Amino acid sequence: MRRFDDQTVLVTGGAGGQGASHVRAFHAEGANVVIGGIDAQRGAALADELGTRARFVRLDVADESSWSAAVLAAESAFGALNVLVNNAGVQNPPATIESTDQATWSRILDINLTGAFLGIKIAAPALRRAAGGAIVNIASTMALGGTAHYAPYVASKWALRGLTRTAALELGRDHIRVNAIHPGVIATPFIREPAAGATAAIADFYSPEPFAIPRLGEPTDVTRLLLFLTSSDASFITGSEHVIDGGLLLGPALQAETA
Ligand SMILES: NC(=O)c1ccc[n+]([C@@H]2O[C@H](COP(=O)([O-])OP(=O)(O)OC[C@H]3O[C@@H](n4cnc5c(N)ncnc54)[C@H](O)[C@@H]3O)[C@@H](O)[C@H]2O)c1
Repeated sequence: MRRFDDQTVLVTGGAGGQGASHVRAFHAEGANVVIGGIDAQRGAALADELGTRARFVRLDVADESSWSAAVLAAESAFGALNVLVNNAGVQNPPATIESTDQATWSRILDINLTGAFLGIKIAAPALRRAAGGAIVNIASTMALGGTAHYAPYVASKWALRGLTRTAALELGRDHIRVNAIHPGVIATPFIREPAAGATAAIADFYSPEPFAIPRLGEPTDVTRLLLFLTSSDASFITGSEHVIDGGLLLGPALQAETA
């Protein structure tokens, strides 16, 4: 018996980066997987590779009607929806607050925050029909402090924390647990490629060298925590937040001279 046998999991932004790692791991643990996203070519290729227990659904998380279609597709294909992973997210091109235009602000909030709100809103009835389940919102260590030049992203991820706690309170009696994960810097296109409208990538100026665990995070690091939080091993955990950052938030691991 595998941890997710007979369960159906929907991962947004599931075609690449951390999302694809999550999809592969849930699938390997027995789940039916629904890859939700806007990258149809990669999403369909991953679903084809995984076979009969996988589907790609076109899902723009900022669009309520595409959420309804995705949840319906999951239930139609596999009979139920048990787990939702709100993973899709985008970063803003680095800019001060004063030079950030409202369209950029709104686009980041629409995807990172409204996307998760709509996901919870539309998926919750399906999870209830399945007699309970789990939701995980992928936030960021940037949800725990400020980061100059990333106001839309930081604000969206801070707000996800409040959404997570509120959803946990509203859904707990329906046996639906809601938690958040705060990844540090993870090796995906998110840091290797410039954000839309930017010229440099985070990897061009970030080094993990000063920190306690001096390497980039791998998608699988986050995946292992995610699978724990969505499994029955975590049945008493809800409304909580889990940092996975190799010690980034601790600050630099300065080495004092010793005698
Ligand atoms: N990589 C990091 O260092 C890091 C750190 C902290 C948090 N995160 C968060 O982790 C999550 C996954 O990011 P990643 O590292 O895999 O980056 P990524 O850029 O590889 O993946 C993001 C995914 O979101 C999808 N997406 C974008 N807009 C969408 C929309 N409107 N609807 C549906 N899907 C959409 C993209 O197509 C892509 O598949 C994001 O929420 C991100 O904010 C990443």
